[in-house]
Amino acid sequence: MDQLNGSANLMIVSDLDFTMVDHDDPENLALLRFNALWEAYYRHNSLLVFSTGRSPTIYCELRKQKPLLTPDITIMSVGTEITYGESMVPDDRWEHYLNHKWNRDIVLEETARLPELVLQSETEQRPHKVSFYLDKTKASKVMQTLSRCLEKRGLDVKIIYSNGIALDILPQAAGKGQALEFLLGKLKADGSGPLNTLVCGDSGNDAELFTVPGVYGVMVSNAQEELLQWYAENAAGSPKLIHATERCADGIIQAISKFSLGPNVSPRDIRDSMYNRKSLRPCHEVVMFYLFYERWRRAEVENSEEYVQYLKSIIHSTGNFVHPSGVDQPIHQLTDTIVNLFGDKQGVEFRVWVDRISTSMVSSGSWLVKFDKWELSGNELRCCSTKVLVNSKIDAEDQFTWMHIHQTWVDGFGEKDDMSWVI
Ligand code: GLC
Ligand code: MG
Repeated sequence: MDQLNGSANLMIVSDLDFTMVDHDDPENLALLRFNALWEAYYRHNSLLVFSTGRSPTIYCELRKQKPLLTPDITIMSVGTEITYGESMVPDDRWEHYLNHKWNRDIVLEETARLPELVLQSETEQRPHKVSFYLDKTKASKVMQTLSRCLEKRGLDVKIIYSNGIALDILPQAAGKGQALEFLLGKLKADGSGPLNTLVCGDSGNDAELFTVPGVYGVMVSNAQEELLQWYAENAAGSPKLIHATERCADGIIQAISKFSLGPNVSPRDIRDSMYNRKSLRPCHEVVMFYLFYERWRRAEVENSEEYVQYLKSIIHSTGNFVHPSGVDQPIHQLTDTIVNLFGDKQGVEFRVWVDRISTSMVSSGSWLVKFDKWELSGNELRCCSTKVLVNSKIDAEDQFTWMHIHQTWVDGFGEKDDMSWVI
């Protein structure tokens, strides 16, 4: 977001569980497809917002388990907590605003009278969110009773049922939709409001997102019954809202295409990535290169002399590569190393993705590209903060040569002397 000058092109506001993240896909293929699309085409001028029911504690756990990109903004605990940037700076103004007609002690007192409600874990109880488990068959009756009792006690609350099991009680002013409206207002006031916003969800607590004025929406194909019911009763036929035919992150990509919101073919869906390296921007180049690297090591591309020549034409013969161990080597050695690794990860879980790409032009035709390069190999997850200097080729300005590469371990994701790391 720091790189934004003026309006963002697209703001994606997505739920996580079973929307951005498909817990039924252990390989995370749809998520990786989305990641490549976002970093190649959107990261530099768009905003990624995660809007989840999870508390900060279990949101951070999910980020350790799944290849999630770093969002620009995180909305947690069903729209009761908004944080900015990677360091997750809280929006105190929002939290203060939610105190109106809210008293969690009264909520706890009243809910204690209803034996059907089973309190969720301590981490999920937040200053403006009290959460329970509740059987589907009892949901509607319990919600009506609760709503009456709390109103009598002078509270103005919102009661939301999600995933056929979870019940959240929040201040009336909270929720994913209200939080998004607040955020859009703030961005607009700062002059960085998005041209288009796409909201994405799968369950009850996402319904409000689709009611925010002006936004496009996608319910992923695997949306929950309660959301589809809400849709049938409130929004059927709305031209800006689709029920995707694809699951999770693939449904998000489908919506980008359906509403013509920008590039919608993930680099991961382009088979011959090395041959399709024309008209690239430096960030796109980096995404394509690492995709090739993954496929080369998984033996998903041909081991042909043409590919070797391509690799040699990309990596400059006299540059330097500073390995995260600190060892400084001529960059051409790296080319030979990569060539020799063809197929060494065949049949193994091996995935590569990049996060937080940013580029800056250092002189005409020369760019510094910064990003985090993640690599999952079996159970091992490693990450290097990476800087690459790329120059556009004299005879083809939309193609690049990698001049210098400098990598350092991201804390906790690499061992200083680990020489098995390649690039
Ligand atoms: C997440 C939260 C939970 C909440 C549910 C539905 O699973 O962890 O507390 O009830 O979302 O909003
Ligand atoms: Mg969900």
